[in-house]
Amino acid sequence: MSLKEKDLEIYQIIENERIRQKYNIELIASENYASEEVREAQGSIFTNKYAEGYPHKRYYGGCENADALEELAINRCCKLFNVKYANVQAHSGSQANMAAYRAIIPYGAKVMGMALDQGGHLTHGSKVSFSGKDYEFMPYYVSKETEEIDYDALEAQALEFKPALIVAGASAYSRKIDFKRIKDICDKVGCLFMVDMAHIAGLVAAGLHQNPCDYADIVTSTTHKTLRGPRGGIILTNNEEIAKKVNKAIFPACQGGPLLHVIAAKAVCFKEAMSDEFKEYQKQLVKNCAYLCDLLKNKGYVIVSGGTDNHLFTINVKKSLGITGDVAEKTLDKVGITCNKNTVPYDTEKPGITSGIRVGTAAVTTRGFKEKEIELLANFMDDALRHYDDDAYLEKLHEEEKRFMEKY
Ligand SMILES: Cc1ncc(COP(=O)(O)O)c(C=O)c1O
Repeated sequence: MSLKEKDLEIYQIIENERIRQKYNIELIASENYASEEVREAQGSIFTNKYAEGYPHKRYYGGCENADALEELAINRCCKLFNVKYANVQAHSGSQANMAAYRAIIPYGAKVMGMALDQGGHLTHGSKVSFSGKDYEFMPYYVSKETEEIDYDALEAQALEFKPALIVAGASAYSRKIDFKRIKDICDKVGCLFMVDMAHIAGLVAAGLHQNPCDYADIVTSTTHKTLRGPRGGIILTNNEEIAKKVNKAIFPACQGGPLLHVIAAKAVCFKEAMSDEFKEYQKQLVKNCAYLCDLLKNKGYVIVSGGTDNHLFTINVKKSLGITGDVAEKTLDKVGITCNKNTVPYDTEKPGITSGIRVGTAAVTTRGFKEKEIELLANFMDDALRHYDDDAYLEKLHEEEKRFMEKY
């Protein structure tokens, strides 16, 4: 019997979501469309299996296929990121970060991470996350003038604060991050270096961004953003001692049994990410992002830091049009364009309102968008945002948007 016949309510909600994903233009920078093969692996019978522990050291019987699966996932992951050790069990990016901290620093240790309102992630020291409660975090900032990471200020701050760890990586930072520069700062301070490459993992895999594994003591990532895999986390390192501690920090410290079906999907994603097709996708994704950013700039929009080097950028809609990020997000939603409100550096609006919106091109590039579609998208966005208070106009635009997306 199919799900439709057995549980119509859930079937219908999934179907509604399928239609939403088909017709909406997805600009949320952390989202993507995983391949059918990734979803087939994730929907596999491995969901039935418990396998606490690691390959050949399990706390359950019947793990021979689980061992083969996890070993293959680890090997592919190591090859993809050119790193010696990988833990592929983290259920999410946040849990990968939790385990990474646990593995390398004691409770209460001093850590520096990028300020949340400037692009950092909740798990990089926010008071509402475990990170800000369990460790003494000090934020570092972008320059007020350039809105790019101020490496000199970071160095001065680190020399004074003397952290045990500096965390690099962000959820809304559109510029390349100079991992080598931060590693040099860590060496001067005598502290450890962690990179959370969740957003840029796909670019790193395709060789379009410095590989943090060459510089950091420990690297974490999600697998579902630019990497285009299933929802989940990974932890990488070249240091054998750290690798052992990471494994203990994931299981039994932070998690129970691994999600083997998700590990199967991660393995499929790692193989996909080694292909030439994936490299071409990443190149197009970055090209699309730069083009969309330029087109909007030419229409008068103010972009945080003036541009982008990666898959995302933040539009300061308050400076551009005098509206808040919240209004901009809701306006675009009305015409079928999905994005999220986002703080801009030194924002004066509350996090629930914000002065900006974050825009990413990973998902639309998967849908096949190239220059022609990006031009249409820029026009749609501009047209909608300038008519934010005209619902009848927005409704007409939405009909046009749906007709446009029918083809992709
Ligand atoms: C930089 C960064 N790290 C970690 C995470 C957390 O990942 P998850 O939502 O899988 O916990 C995110 C999610 O957006 C992120 O942007």
